[in-house]
Amino acid sequence: MEITHIPAGSRTDDEIEGILAEVVDFDTLINRASGLGTDFDPRSDEVRQELVSANEYVTHQTWIGRSGGAIVAKGIAYLTLQDNVDVAEVWCSVHPGLRRQGLGSELLLAMEASLADQGRTQLTSYCEIPASARDGDLRGAHLAAESGAGSLPVEHPGVAFLLRHGFAFKQLERCSVAQTTTAAKLPAADLDEGYTIETWSGPTPEHRLDAIALLHQRMSTDTPGAEEFGEEEKWDAARVRALNATRSEGHERLGTALALKGDAAAGFTEVAHFEERPVVGWQGSTLVAREHRGHGLGTALKIANHVALGERASVERIYTWNAVENSWMLLINDRAGFATWAWVGLWKKHLA
Ligand SMILES: CC(C)(COP(=O)(O)OP(=O)(O)OC[C@H]1O[C@@H](n2cnc3c(N)ncnc32)[C@H](O)[C@@H]1OP(=O)(O)O)[C@@H](O)C(=O)NCCC(=O)NCCS
Repeated sequence: MEITHIPAGSRTDDEIEGILAEVVDFDTLINRASGLGTDFDPRSDEVRQELVSANEYVTHQTWIGRSGGAIVAKGIAYLTLQDNVDVAEVWCSVHPGLRRQGLGSELLLAMEASLADQGRTQLTSYCEIPASARDGDLRGAHLAAESGAGSLPVEHPGVAFLLRHGFAFKQLERCSVAQTTTAAKLPAADLDEGYTIETWSGPTPEHRLDAIALLHQRMSTDTPGAEEFGEEEKWDAARVRALNATRSEGHERLGTALALKGDAAAGFTEVAHFEERPVVGWQGSTLVAREHRGHGLGTALKIANHVALGERASVERIYTWNAVENSWMLLINDRAGFATWAWVGLWKKHLA
């Protein structure tokens, strides 16, 4: 296999346009084989962005493996640039007809060598297993997450592969899906005194940049297991503005609900949706700051955002991910109408 390494922005636009359709087709093939459903098919905007653009905060690197001219494997690494500069999130995929021949291992070893050279010695990765696949293998051997909550079938290719390559299974997440019409039928929550919720669609309004930055920063410390996956992130208004700009370039729109106590940020929830597949929403961050917990804000934020997304943006369904030990958030999600769709294992490896 011939492996080409493409850090975002290292090739001309013409070169990227020349391979884009082929890469998207390969990613589509991988997704169709996964059983996760067509909502999870790659979007060409997203793949283009991973290949061409980096900003000062985040970047991607792609490895493409070819044999006989055709793409047979692909690896991707997501890197943050201002914090966690020794960390890389990696994911690799191999053509479904060519698995168990060592291609995945060859690719991962090349990625690890390159990332280690760049000082990225803390790797994270993930594997996604449709609920039906895990339910179908309840009696097979399972591996427990180190967090102590949840397990995954060891025979699943993603699990077996990461295990074989020395990754440790740290945490299990539940991926679930809700229809926005469900929230529209729920009664609007009565907020405790002093609290209000605002919703908007699109970039963060200038006068709310600091509030959103503060809540993003708290996301990196105030969620279960956060300390396992990196240090506190640094957020300010400029970083939120840069994120908004990257989203616009990727034809991504964000529906946000922000909870305030007076003018102080108490919590937020964000859902992304994309021009290419407008009926599908992807839950981003949700956080209620520690000092504002216990007032029902989590559920109220999610319901307010779902209603706004259904009414203003024609989003029909929303996917979300939560650590299984985050029982509060799972309860909030159940109340907002979410049901299990898949299980996601989060893994970690330290390169020597
Ligand atoms: C996971 C994946 C990349 C593995 O690619 P691959 O080319 O089949 O992997 P390799 O042939 O290099 O396998 C290396 C080792 O992983 C383990 N492994 C991989 N697939 C396995 C399976 N289906 N069952 C059991 N063990 C498996 C074995 O230990 C294997 O070594 P062996 O064949 O000598 O027993 C491939 O199945 C894939 O693309 N899956 C979808 C994407 C994905 O889940 N990625 C998550 C991991 S980043």
